[in-house]
Amino acid sequence: MKFIIGVSGGIAIYKVVDLVRKFKKRGDEVRVVMTKAATKFVTPELFREISLEPVMTDVFGNDETAAHIKWTKWCDAMIIAPATANVIGKLSSGIADEALTTVAIAMTKPLIVVPAMNEAMYNSAAVTANLSTLKTRGVKIIDPSKGELACGGEGVGRLPESEEIVKQVDKILSQKKTLFGKKIIVTAGGTREPIDPVRYIGNRSSGKMGHAIAKAAADRGAQVVLVTTSNLTPPENVRVINVESAEQMRYIVNAEFEMSDAVIMSAAVADYRVAEPATQKIKKNSDTLTLELVKNPDILFELGQKKNHQILIGFAAETQTVEENAIAKLKKKNLDMIVANDVTAKGAGFAVDTNIVTLITSKGLNSYPQMQKSEVAEIILNELEKFLTNDKN
Ligand code: CTP
Repeated sequence: MKFIIGVSGGIAIYKVVDLVRKFKKRGDEVRVVMTKAATKFVTPELFREISLEPVMTDVFGNDETAAHIKWTKWCDAMIIAPATANVIGKLSSGIADEALTTVAIAMTKPLIVVPAMNEAMYNSAAVTANLSTLKTRGVKIIDPSKGELACGGEGVGRLPESEEIVKQVDKILSQKKTLFGKKIIVTAGGTREPIDPVRYIGNRSSGKMGHAIAKAAADRGAQVVLVTTSNLTPPENVRVINVESAEQMRYIVNAEFEMSDAVIMSAAVADYRVAEPATQKIKKNSDTLTLELVKNPDILFELGQKKNHQILIGFAAETQTVEENAIAKLKKKNLDMIVANDVTAKGAGFAVDTNIVTLITSKGLNSYPQMQKSEVAEIILNELEKFLTNDKN
């Protein structure tokens, strides 16, 4: 493996010297990029001696031009250790003011951040928010360990020992990161169309299928935006946007669409909404109540009209002539794939953990037996990956 190790200024640098030695000893190649603050703790010469490679401390004045880009092309992954609160803040805001942050922002390969700092800094609202932003972008975080801190006392914030970092890096890189660098929008759950401030028209969709897809895509390294109506605990490492109505879902999906590589619409979007929801709670004054419904915009159809490079995957929840109906929707909405299921079948459909699906593309269809929704998510993403690779060629 070829690693770039980004070293920022923290007392834990001495462990990184050992980390570089460990990687070198087992045959990995390592190049070090240091912040100015890091050079106050150890000299670049030290890392040069143990890595037997050039050390970068500045974007300018290197032997090669655009060295930061060449380095990112050269490596398989970048590890930032120790990552100070300052560097984490810069990474999350996209600031590229030094060699380390400039290399990091240009990375198109796995980026692993190992924070190390005082416990109060680590637990601060800013660092917590910045780390969670990085996670939603597919950056992997190796949690600091607990123990004696350089500033005195005990707490969380210590850089893990070098052998522990090696172990965790190996584990992270052995996971399939086949969707790294891809932005995927996943919608989930049934929309809720307001009747008045307390009531809505809803449907039986639980959001389980969409949440399973979001989790599986994030596990493959994708940057996932989960637009959901569901109350389920969202998976880690995804950006969650909670919505209620079809109109809200449409607004968010459209706002995220241009920069995305794929949209997986697993949400059960209500076809109709109440024309004019009451602004006050409706009282039971009369024996009957008539609600006028108007058609909702078809989010997926609209995306099908305006897509340029995005892959579109829809769902067709049917109760009869499943395949025929699904194929018609695939064509009408200009989709790349549709996931059809008979929601009346046992072990399929709403609020259960399993599903029975048929994946349909313009090339044909593939029917699968009953599976866990997590497994269905994997087969959908396998197909999505095929589309995304063809797209590149
Ligand atoms: N969909 C959408 N916007 C809508 C309705 C549906 O984006 N207003 C999406 C769903 O998320 C799903 C697919 O379109 O991916 C389902 O297609 P659709 O034809 O709307 O299915 P049904 O609502 O089941 O349609 P019908 O009632 O005509 O069978």
